[in-house]
Amino acid sequence: MFKRFQKDILCIEKNSFITPWKLPQFVDELNNPYSHMWGLIEGEELIGYICFWMVVDEVHIMNIAIRADMRRKGMAKLLLSELIRFAKSRNMSKIWLEVRPSNKAALSLYKKMGFKKVAIRKKYYSDTNEDAIVMALDLK
Ligand SMILES: CC(C)(COP(=O)(O)OP(=O)(O)OC[C@H]1O[C@@H](n2cnc3c(N)ncnc32)[C@H](O)[C@@H]1OP(=O)(O)O)[C@@H](O)C(=O)NCCC(=O)NCCS
Repeated sequence: MFKRFQKDILCIEKNSFITPWKLPQFVDELNNPYSHMWGLIEGEELIGYICFWMVVDEVHIMNIAIRADMRRKGMAKLLLSELIRFAKSRNMSKIWLEVRPSNKAALSLYKKMGFKKVAIRKKYYSDTNEDAIVMALDLK
């Protein structure tokens, strides 16, 4: 999936984040045995992707993005629902993620999917010095 859509992934990434992942970061993920990356593909087109780690019985979402022209159509909800279904089928107990307080779209998405705020990591994002909100979803 990554090789086929590499250009599209890097393009979506660049249009989605203040500090986008570059190719080496994606390659690190592909070489990391804990890491999984899924693409949401319609026909020949990449709509979005999610990257997550599975370690013991916990999942950590590392990255999720939807192509700008396909947002607000339930695509992220679809990806997350599929991740939740998959994680439950693997007997995982929790899904974790970090989100910027300024990212209202993502915060609203995660709340809608049942994630709860559990902690603040001070100055977690070194590019803007922004805190991170840590959110978790209990699967059991
Ligand atoms: C955050 C993101 C992944 C949401 O993707 P999406 O496919 O547009 O989201 P969905 O259509 O599935 O929306 C699900 C819910 O999220 C919330 N939401 C999504 N976009 C929103 C926006 N722009 N403003 C407010 N709420 C929003 C809404 O609650 C929405 O439910 P509703 O449509 O019933 O109101 C997308 O905006 C994106 O790729 N952003 C850039 C990358 C990013 O910030 N990733 C998250 C990093 S933590």
